[in-house]
Amino acid sequence: MAANILLVDDEPGMLRYIRTLLELDNYQVQTASTGEEAIEQLTNGLDPELVLLDLVMPGMDGLQTLEQIRRLRPSARVVILSCVNDTKKVVQAMRMGAHDYLTKPFQKIELDAVIAQCLDHSQKIYSGEVEELSENSFFIAASPAMKKIRSQAALVAHVDIPVLLLGESGTGKEVLGRLIHKLSARAHRTFLKVNCAAVPADLLESELFGYEPGAFTGATHSKPGKFEICNKGTILLDEIGEMPPSLQAKLLHVLQDQSFSRLGSRSIVKVDVRILAATNINIPEALASKRLREDLYYRLNAFTLELPPLRHRKEEIPILLKHFMTRMAESYARPPLPLSPTLMAACMAHSWPGNLRELGNFVKRYLILGDEQLAIAEIRPKNGGSNLAGTNLAGSNSASTNPGGGLKSLGRSAKDEAEAVAIKRALDETNWNRKQAAVLLQISYKALLYKVRQYGLAQNQGHHKLSAGA
Ligand SMILES: Nc1ncnc2c1ncn2[C@@H]1O[C@H](COP(=O)(O)OP(=O)(O)OP(=O)(O)O)[C@@H](O)[C@H]1O
Ligand SMILES: [Mg+2]
Repeated sequence: MAANILLVDDEPGMLRYIRTLLELDNYQVQTASTGEEAIEQLTNGLDPELVLLDLVMPGMDGLQTLEQIRRLRPSARVVILSCVNDTKKVVQAMRMGAHDYLTKPFQKIELDAVIAQCLDHSQKIYSGEVEELSENSFFIAASPAMKKIRSQAALVAHVDIPVLLLGESGTGKEVLGRLIHKLSARAHRTFLKVNCAAVPADLLESELFGYEPGAFTGATHSKPGKFEICNKGTILLDEIGEMPPSLQAKLLHVLQDQSFSRLGSRSIVKVDVRILAATNINIPEALASKRLREDLYYRLNAFTLELPPLRHRKEEIPILLKHFMTRMAESYARPPLPLSPTLMAACMAHSWPGNLRELGNFVKRYLILGDEQLAIAEIRPKNGGSNLAGTNLAGSNSASTNPGGGLKSLGRSAKDEAEAVAIKRALDETNWNRKQAAVLLQISYKALLYKVRQYGLAQNQGHHKLSAGA
């Protein structure tokens, strides 16, 4: 039987038009010309499978109506009918549980596609757990929290707004960015990641925006920046918190009108780039210290997806272990090793401060060492011997408590531990200003970033996080 559809729009012409289209396909259509009228119909027992809801209406507007619909008929699917300039409200509607949106005016095929998607419940509710993003990159979402993120990503993918990806190091911000790109209309265009922390500040601007000859010493030819290369595609600005504030201002400009000029040039370049940004910094702190510009932050956070740390989605550990084992065994051309109950239990008990990256490295080490006991020993909590209370330098046995593994590895782990402690102290002393910390430690900025990642160091949020990684 064809589905019941409730159509809510204040324009009589629009009501008539959509109604005709729907009735052509034998849907049973009810109409309401105000939000109030729609709610009244629902209160009186109308139970549509789908509501097509205009966003801008006098009286109760689309968002208020949506709120009531969600309360009265939580299982009804809602599609927002919007105008081109309603992006902000569309995003808000999706946050409130709308399933999709159509921009007026639309064609019958667009309407058909959206309805088909909405009514095909099996397709709409994401059921697969592993999804291939590219030849050797996957997105796994097995826990309820991750499935929710997966479906939000799918919704936001086809609205051209910036998305801010948050989460501790190694929680999968980059893979999530790739997933959004893959699910968007830009999927066949370029996806580029720019790590704002890995490029020295003064190079970052020319890297992003390109330059003309004479823009700076050594600029002999013209070069397009990443934004131009990425035209019609998606750019992921990784570690956005490391971008110098002056450049943040320029980026804000690009977000506002999709235009900029190359260094050393006055002519304006127009681009159409979807911007995703990722960071694991403490945002309130970064805003307070002006490291992150507030105006840029509010622009970027139109839609935020926050990845939970692995310790908050432990039910995913078995599937992740199996997946990483299969994939890595394949790429190292080795038979996969068994994941015994003992090993599984140790993994479930571990807190994974380096999150999925640490878990991936754990599987890799196990596969290479081929020794379950050794692998388990690495993630087992160690008592004493560490200068950092409550930390666990996974990947290197604590020098003073575990004499196994030979003199060489003993030396290495002692060095690693000492190094991690010194780096952590320098970072804490400089309030996580990585440049100053690098100066203090007398190592290069890049080397510091590498080590921070290697040891899985993260800014204190109540407790230390320390593990091997990278
Ligand atoms: N949902 C996931 N499914 C499958 N693999 C994942 C997932 N999340 C993360 N990984 C894997 O974990 C590793 C780290 O992921 P990613 O680089 O995306 O993390 P990140 O949050 O960007 O980390 P960082 O803050 O350190 O840059 C990668 O090898 C990635 O393939
Ligand atoms: Mg990353």
